[in-house]
Amino acid sequence: MAADISSCYGCCKLIITIISFVVLFFVYIAMVLPSIHVEEFYVPALNSTGNLTTINKTIYINLKLKNRNHVTGLYYIDPLFFNLSFIPKEQNTSVPLAELALHGFYQGKGKAKHVKGLLMTRGLPSVSNGTSNGTQGLPPAGSFRLDFFGKVRYKLQGFHQRHSMLLEANLEVDDKTGVKVGDKGIRMVKSGAWDETRDMFFTVFMLFGVFFI
Ligand SMILES: *[C@@H]1O[C@H](CO)[C@@H](O)[C@H](O)[C@H]1NC(C)=O
Ligand SMILES: *[C@@H]1O[C@H](CO)[C@@H](O)[C@H](O)[C@H]1NC(C)=O
Ligand SMILES: *[C@@H]1O[C@H](CO)[C@@H](O)[C@H](O)[C@H]1NC(C)=O
Ligand SMILES: *[C@@H]1O[C@H](CO)[C@@H](O)[C@H](O)[C@H]1NC(C)=O
Ligand SMILES: *[C@@H]1O[C@H](CO)[C@@H](O)[C@H](O)[C@H]1NC(C)=O
Ligand SMILES: *[C@@H]1O[C@H](CO)[C@@H](O)[C@H](O)[C@H]1NC(C)=O
Ligand SMILES: *[C@@H]1O[C@H](CO)[C@@H](O)[C@H](O)[C@H]1NC(C)=O
Repeated sequence: MAADISSCYGCCKLIITIISFVVLFFVYIAMVLPSIHVEEFYVPALNSTGNLTTINKTIYINLKLKNRNHVTGLYYIDPLFFNLSFIPKEQNTSVPLAELALHGFYQGKGKAKHVKGLLMTRGLPSVSNGTSNGTQGLPPAGSFRLDFFGKVRYKLQGFHQRHSMLLEANLEVDDKTGVKVGDKGIRMVKSGAWDETRDMFFTVFMLFGVFFI
């Protein structure tokens, strides 16, 4: 009799372990990092129909940060940086233009947040040829680049891991209107600095953790 009870107990324990594993595994694979899109990008200095007699150092930007999870909310951990730079076509250097820092915030499941407004830059690089004093020199050919540096954490019991996010977007701007090329928003993608191995390590670590409940 006693042997039966203990074997049943062992059996139940195994079943519970398997169920916990399956549930956690599906919750884990259902978790995705947020997406960031550049919805609008406008450089007034490049608007050839605009007022070129005054130097306009601003850039209008509209970003959309979306929590794609339908299971969990997430925390964007302070500080979050968007660094904007200009990449001239001729050189392989980048010219830092502006930084946008955001405070950390919480985002509910499936929610999206827009961050938009005029960014004051340090001044757009220009190929001034001496004659254009006071007015704006023509900006050199090239593209704008936006980098995102941030960390997020899921609002889920047992998931305290912070995930680093390093994203980038290349922004081509029409040199007559100053408006971003293309109607659709541009999705920021993993930049070269993304730490892939750490994410992999976490997955493996997590699976082992479940086995030893
Ligand atoms: C460019 O400048 C013109 C004239 O000031 C203005 O009407 C137009 O709205 C500007 N373009 C954009 C995209 O703001
Ligand atoms: C351009 O800006 C200057 C200074 O703000 C102003 O005096 C001028 O009237 C403006 N020109 C146009 C076409 O809006
Ligand atoms: C620069 O352009 C923006 C967008 O058109 C405008 O709101 C702002 O007043 C301009 N600033 C200057 C200094 O002309
Ligand atoms: C982004 O800008 C911030 C603020 O100036 C700076 O501290 C940080 O080092 C920049 N990050 C990179 C990778 O340039
Ligand atoms: C471009 O990069 C290479 C290697 O990083 C460097 O040797 C070269 O001087 C750079 N050219 C310019 C124009 O900055
Ligand atoms: C300066 O640039 C303007 C516009 O590209 C051009 O018309 C002018 O001839 C240039 N002046 C000199 C001195 O290079
Ligand atoms: C151009 O501006 C610089 C400083 O901003 C000034 O020293 C120089 O005299 C100006 N040149 C002309 C032709 O106005």
